[in-house]
Amino acid sequence: MRHVITAEALMDRKLLDRLFALAQKMEKMGKRNKLHTALRGKILATIFYEPSTRTRLSFEAGMIKLGGGVISVENAVQASSASKGESLEDAIRVVSSFADVIVLRHPESGAAKAAAEISWVPVINAGDGSGEHPTQALYDLYTIHKEHNTLDTLHIALVGDLLNGRTVHSLLQFLPLYRKVQLSLVAPKKLQLPKRYVDYLKQKGVNFEQVTQLVPVLKKLDVLYMTRIQKERFRSPKEYEAIKNVYVLDERSLLTMKKDAVIMHPLPRVQEIAVTVDRDPRAAYFRQAENGLYARMALLHWILKGF
Ligand code: NCD
Repeated sequence: MRHVITAEALMDRKLLDRLFALAQKMEKMGKRNKLHTALRGKILATIFYEPSTRTRLSFEAGMIKLGGGVISVENAVQASSASKGESLEDAIRVVSSFADVIVLRHPESGAAKAAAEISWVPVINAGDGSGEHPTQALYDLYTIHKEHNTLDTLHIALVGDLLNGRTVHSLLQFLPLYRKVQLSLVAPKKLQLPKRYVDYLKQKGVNFEQVTQLVPVLKKLDVLYMTRIQKERFRSPKEYEAIKNVYVLDERSLLTMKKDAVIMHPLPRVQEIAVTVDRDPRAAYFRQAENGLYARMALLHWILKGF
């Protein structure tokens, strides 16, 4: 069974290349309005205990485009039997007898792993607290691959809430698969990358720096990956307010960046990228979001039917 709980599940350059190729095929067929029937008769269940727009809708749209069906609990804390006290494990045990694959988002780190242990069908982690978000990383990599034609020899900055940002935690694990990647980790002192990921990068021999200032690194970058300060992970609103606008990318910052740099963001954006940046051709975050649909179609296809 192909569960996708952490980056580890996709940690194979050949597998990623095949998923990228399939995603590209999905995009081409989608643009020609060709109907897919590959997953006809299959059911995807999306169970979200935390808010989402892109992740849930792109999985659902992708499943429908592949000819499958969707059952969904959007606000599982209130709208499911969780409000009556049902455990995640019981919910998963039952839903896994209705569906062929489950996409789960949950506020607790480790929840997806626990769900996979009791599920009859593959579980895809769509975010477990501050843990991981491996399918976001999949389409982040796909986007870099599309924009730069390669993932080798790039200088990448991961910026913002590196402590709590699960998209960053998943994405950085893939970087050692690629040749001569240079990494700038840009975060305020209080929101630095958890030690286990720093140790991972060291152990894998990745060339990285940890800095607190964004402006001095901008000119070196091929990929700027901005993230939102994860408000919901803060215990005190005051602490969040004090730090929320620590990095703001505006039109002026663009002047120093390379002409072919790519600006990414998993979205939702709050203030960290000014809307005036959107019209710059280097702003790739909306293209990135669209890539999410095709990459997730490829992933669903691989999980349920292989290549
Ligand atoms: C991310 C998440 O949920 O972790 N959103 C997403 O799925 N694109 C990023 C975020 O919420 O900041």
